[in-house]
Amino acid sequence: QDHLITATQLSRDDIEAVLDRAREVAADPAAYANRHAGTVLALCFFEPSTRTRMSFDAAAKRLGIDTIDMGDVASSSVSKGESLADTVRVIEGYADALVLRHPSEGAATLAAEFVDVPVINAGDGAGQHPSQTLLDLHTIREDHGLDDLTIGIMGDLKYGRTVHSLAAALTNFDARQHFISPESLRLPRSVRFDLHETGAQVREHEELETVLDELDVLYVTRIQKERFPDENEYHRVAGEYRIDADTLTDANDDLTVMHPLPRVDEIAPDVDDTEHARYFEQAHNGIPVRMALLDTLLEADNE
Ligand code: CP
Repeated sequence: QDHLITATQLSRDDIEAVLDRAREVAADPAAYANRHAGTVLALCFFEPSTRTRMSFDAAAKRLGIDTIDMGDVASSSVSKGESLADTVRVIEGYADALVLRHPSEGAATLAAEFVDVPVINAGDGAGQHPSQTLLDLHTIREDHGLDDLTIGIMGDLKYGRTVHSLAAALTNFDARQHFISPESLRLPRSVRFDLHETGAQVREHEELETVLDELDVLYVTRIQKERFPDENEYHRVAGEYRIDADTLTDANDDLTVMHPLPRVDEIAPDVDDTEHARYFEQAHNGIPVRMALLDTLLEADNE
């Protein structure tokens, strides 16, 4: 059974196959309309979402897939104490694939052990968010390509699941990765270890200014308030690593600024009007990329 649980499972060929298909989808969406009519996708979100939930829903519908949504935790039987394992075992009887977001790291791995339909991890706590990575890579590829790339990834590197997935996926390419954060929000030791094991070109910094003029891409992230065990610790680092149009004065002219969104205040609104801003386009790329991903997983499931 093909699942998408973590970006570490993706080879360069896997990534390029999905991104090539995303290009085809973007160029000719009508060719993909109703390709999977009669198929049902279940959206199981145990945490809030705007982009991931809605773009999977829209991507599915553009492929002719019907969607069913578990709804909010409060309105589902999860609120009565039903386990994740029981929930997904029931829902697999209603659907041909599951998209799962959950606050616990490892939740998608667990779900995949209990069901025989493809599971797509739409974010498991501070763990991974691999479909976000595919649309991030698509966005980067269209601007710069994925080789001979210098990227800065800044903000909450400890709890940022989009960061953990993106960093892992980039090890398939000739990418120099600069991680910029306060000491307390460095990449987790396990992620750093895995990156070093692959021989990835990685450096860590506390100041953006140290590397800004080298970057092709600056990937900014939100400080993940909801993941801090101690809110005082959040307030100690909140507001750091904020950029505005002035910050980018010394950047390369073709610097691409990305953010998985939602943002709080880490990118000032005046950046939106610069040539660098690509975060809304990045979010919109969720449609062709998630169409390509669903098409790939369902095609493999039918073989
Ligand atoms: N980027 C992202 O995962 O956004 P949502 O939380 O809105 O799905």
